[in-house]
Amino acid sequence: MNGMDKDGMKKRIAVLASGRGSNFQAVIDAIRDGRVPAACVRLLTDNPQAYAIERARAAAIPVTIVDYAAFPSREAYERELLFAMQGCRADLFVLAGYMRIVGNEIVRAFSGRIINIHPALLPSFPGLHGQRQAFLHGVKISGCTVHFVDESLDGGPVIVQKCIPLLEGDDEETLAARILEQEHRCLPEAIRLFCEDRLVIEGRRVRIR
Ligand code: GRF
Repeated sequence: MNGMDKDGMKKRIAVLASGRGSNFQAVIDAIRDGRVPAACVRLLTDNPQAYAIERARAAAIPVTIVDYAAFPSREAYERELLFAMQGCRADLFVLAGYMRIVGNEIVRAFSGRIINIHPALLPSFPGLHGQRQAFLHGVKISGCTVHFVDESLDGGPVIVQKCIPLLEGDDEETLAARILEQEHRCLPEAIRLFCEDRLVIEGRRVRIR
């Protein structure tokens, strides 16, 4: 329960991010402050322009860019990404604003070792723009979810969720901003639980021991 593996080493995590990387930053900060017993060994990104790359450099985290646009097909991109992921020798892969569907081959290669943060209370509003979907649907409560990644779209076993009430006068942006604040708490919390070996997947459920 101390976040170390058999050799007394910290768990190795790698982060996949496609854009601004504020969730990635929350993970970097949590590790630095000792709230998450892990070493972030690499940032993987599909987007050479991602601001997440600057954040990695500032934190001295190695970066691998697997530029989606440089590959002739999704399959070719996924093969290269799989290769890059294998090279990380990571215990856990964290999708933190990684804006692509992870292919089945990768999901199977790292079964139970990939988690994702989603800006809605799954299973409501999977896919892109979870905040917008919730806002347009007129729900009174939304939130965020960290879950294991399986072969479904945002449908894997749930690790952590937080609720956010919609307020009078909210628009999509104000809602998204409040959800994001909670994402920055949920994601490090889920990673901490994983690194402390406290997550047990039992069918659809994740038991926290
Ligand atoms: C977050 O809302 C995350 O839940 C979603 O994409 C957004 C990424 O934001 N998957 P950031 O890049 O972490 O700032």
